[in-house]
Amino acid sequence: MDKIVVEKSPALKGRVRVSGSKNAALPILAACLLGTEDIYLDEVPDLEDIRVMCEVLESLGSKVSYPEKGKLIINSGGLKEYKTPFELMNKMRASFLVMGPLLTRLGRTENSLPGGCAIGSRPIDYHLKGFRALGAEIEEDFGNITAHAKKLKGSRVYLDFPSVGATENIMMAAVLAEGETIIENAAKEPEIVDLSNFLRKLGAKVMGAGTSTIRINGVEKLGGARYSIIPDRIEAGTFMVAAAITGGDVLVENVISSHMLPMMAKLEEAGCTLTEDGDSIRVQGVAAPREIEVKTLPYPGFPTDMQAQFTAFMTQCKGSSEVIETVFENRFMHVEELQKMGAEIRIEDRRATVFGPSQLTGATVKASDLRAGAALILAGLIAEGKTTVTAVHHIDRGYDRIEEKLRGLGAKIYRISEED
Ligand code: EPZ
Repeated sequence: MDKIVVEKSPALKGRVRVSGSKNAALPILAACLLGTEDIYLDEVPDLEDIRVMCEVLESLGSKVSYPEKGKLIINSGGLKEYKTPFELMNKMRASFLVMGPLLTRLGRTENSLPGGCAIGSRPIDYHLKGFRALGAEIEEDFGNITAHAKKLKGSRVYLDFPSVGATENIMMAAVLAEGETIIENAAKEPEIVDLSNFLRKLGAKVMGAGTSTIRINGVEKLGGARYSIIPDRIEAGTFMVAAAITGGDVLVENVISSHMLPMMAKLEEAGCTLTEDGDSIRVQGVAAPREIEVKTLPYPGFPTDMQAQFTAFMTQCKGSSEVIETVFENRFMHVEELQKMGAEIRIEDRRATVFGPSQLTGATVKASDLRAGAALILAGLIAEGKTTVTAVHHIDRGYDRIEEKLRGLGAKIYRISEED
C-alpha cells in the first residue's frame, strides 16, 4: 500500500485549482442509468471512487468512454442488468446510489447491503423507506437487498434525518415514477442541487432541490445531456486549512464561495484573512490563530467532511477549541493519530476539546478514512521532522493527486509507492 511522507514545510504560498466534486459526481454518474441517449460529463474528478462507479455502470450495461481527463461520455440506452456485482458494491458503498435508478428504470434491482465503514454503521433504512413509499416490494436476506415494482407511484416521503444519499436515491427513483413525489426534510447540500440540475437537463421534472421540500413529477423517459460537475467544496476547504495551519497565503481557485460559508466563517474567527475574488478565495493565515468552536450539522451547517481537517488546525489555535460531531457516530479516529504526533485532545462522547498551540512531532500515522487521512497530512506540514501517513488508498478515493497539489504550494511531501 502506498504511503505519503510529509516533512515540516514552510508557510504554503501560491495558487491551487480545485477539481470537480466527488460527492456530486457519484450520484450524477448513478443518474446516468436513467438516460437513454449520450450523456457528456465535464469536470469529473480523477478519483478511485469515480473509476469504481464507472465499472459499476459498465457492469450494468452502460457504455462509458473517457475522451480525455475530466470528461466522460455515458450511454445507458442498452441498460438491462439489475444486479450490482458484489465485489464492486463492497469496494464503495456509494454504489448503492444505483438502486433508485435501476428500480425506476427496470422495475427491479439487487444489491448487496452496503458495508459500514470506519466512521459509522451507515444504515440505509431511509433509502428503503422511500422506495417502499413509492410502492416497491423489498426483501433483505443474507446481506442482499432485492427491490421490485411494476411501476413506482409518486408519494410523500418524510426523512427522519436529512440524509444526503437517501434524498438522492429517492429523487432518482421518483423521476420515472407515475405522478408526484414530495420529499420532506430533504438534504439541502449543494451536491443535491447539482444532481437535480443534471436530472432536469435529462428532462426530469424536479423542483425545490436545496430546500427541505423537493417535488418530483414523474415523466415517461429521459434523454441525454451535456453537464459540468460543480467544484468540490471539501477539497477546497482542505486547501484553505492547509494555508491556515501553515500561516501561509494561498489562492484557492475554482470555488463557489456560497458553498463555503461555514469553513470561511470559522477560519476568519480564528484570525485568518479571507478575500473573495470571482471563483477564487485567497486565504492568509496568521502566526497565532485563536481558538474556535465547530459543530457539524447537515447543510448549510458546518460539514462533517471538514471536521477532521479543522481538528488538525485547532492543534495550532491558542486556547481550547471545541469540536462537536453530530452527523456520524464514530468520526474521531484521526484524534488518536494526532495524539501520537503530540496533540493535546480530550474526547467525551461526540465532543473533542483541542488544547493549543502544541508543537507536533512527526510520526507514522494511519489514515482511517479519506478526510482523516487529509487531516494527518495537514498536521504533518507543521510537525517537526517527518510524518509518514499509511493506508493512503483512503485518501486517493477522495483527493485527486493531493500531494502534487500541495507540493505546488511549497509543501515538502512525496508518495512512496508500494513497488518503490
Ligand atoms: C454523504 O454520505 C457523503 N458521501 C459523505 O461524504 C458525507 O459525510 C455525508 O453525506 C454527510 O454529509 C457521498 O455523498 C458519496 P447521510 P451519506 O446519508 O449519503 C445516517 C466523504 O468524506 N443515515 O447524509 O452516506 C447515517 O448513518 C463522505 O466524502 C441513517 O441512519 O450520508 C449518518 O449518521 C464520507 N439511515 C447520517 O444519517 C439512512 O438510511 C448522515 O448520513 C441514511 C443515513
